[in-house]
Amino acid sequence: MEYTKNNSHNNILGIESSCDDTSAAVLVNGNICSNVVASQKVHEEFGGVVPEWASRKHQQNILPTVKSALSKANLSLQDIDAIACTQGPGLVGSLLVGHTFVKGLSMSLGIPFVNVNHLDAHVLAHFIDGEIPSLPFLCLLVSGGHTQIVLVKENYQMKVLGKTMDDAAGEAFDKAGKMMGLSYPSGPQIDELAKTGNPNAFKFNKPNVGGLDYSFSGMKTSILYFLQKEVKKNPNFIDENIQDLCASIQYTIVSYLLSNLKRAIKETGVNSIGIAGGVAANSELRDSLIKLADNTDSKAYIPKFEYCTDNAAMIAFAGKIKLEQKQFGTLTDVCYTRK
Ligand code: KG4
Ligand code: ZN
Repeated sequence: MEYTKNNSHNNILGIESSCDDTSAAVLVNGNICSNVVASQKVHEEFGGVVPEWASRKHQQNILPTVKSALSKANLSLQDIDAIACTQGPGLVGSLLVGHTFVKGLSMSLGIPFVNVNHLDAHVLAHFIDGEIPSLPFLCLLVSGGHTQIVLVKENYQMKVLGKTMDDAAGEAFDKAGKMMGLSYPSGPQIDELAKTGNPNAFKFNKPNVGGLDYSFSGMKTSILYFLQKEVKKNPNFIDENIQDLCASIQYTIVSYLLSNLKRAIKETGVNSIGIAGGVAANSELRDSLIKLADNTDSKAYIPKFEYCTDNAAMIAFAGKIKLEQKQFGTLTDVCYTRK
């Protein structure tokens, strides 16, 4: 396709719709001018994201979210030079809403779009603004759908050193919360309740699958069996111990996550470390990363809170890199559910 506008790509519109958050952001000359996120409350009562509901909500939210992002940046659609959009991984129905919207917008405005990988964007959130990590950089990417240790090299080249064999860290938080009667997503609630609990009150299994890989399914089962056993003895066990349970579960997940990151520091000799993705919003993970950096002579980097959970600022930024490399998307590109 021939694009009618100039090649400068100063004003980039980013769009994210991979799961249950619709987000739009505007990046002007490399600076984020707006980053609007419309969250979907409809999933709370189901204890997890309902894909069909998610796509329908994205359809309702996408236009107002884009309009709001443009207005906060004091720009109109005609000022936009290029669009960056999440292509995957994610829920296919959700991705399709954003991706199809962007293809249509690109065609009607005569401007290019670029496809962005959601996981790369989470890692690249570190490089948007604030203190930028030195390269090479080891990033623990922990979200609702993924858990990976990623090595970022020169020119943002990424290599996955370890990943989960089954559930993701965010899923472990969410499923443990569901077992205790908390609503979805439970990660932030567990974080809050854990603040007044004892992390050593209860012990749960920490699997060892070898290398830098993770597994959370065994941990999940051990939490389930423990709760079932205790509730049989005392039906009020969960209510009476909710803070200690949250603190102990959080401690187990966080220390497990960081044990492999520590191993990665040792194996690679890389001393620039960070966390990214929704679970990077967790206060204990943030504090423990700083302690790990102190103990390993490393420097810790933590992205701004709003760049941790799903957002379009990271998509716009990741898109800028692809635009500079002229890796334009085409109308025949399709979304993907897995990396
Ligand atoms: O990156 P994200 O927004 O979406 C995905 O790409 O999956 O991550 C969402 C995940 C959810 O599992 C949620 O429970 C978790 O991030 N999360 C947290 C916290 N805030 C969000 N987990 C633990 N503590 C938090 N404060
Ligand atoms: Zn995400």
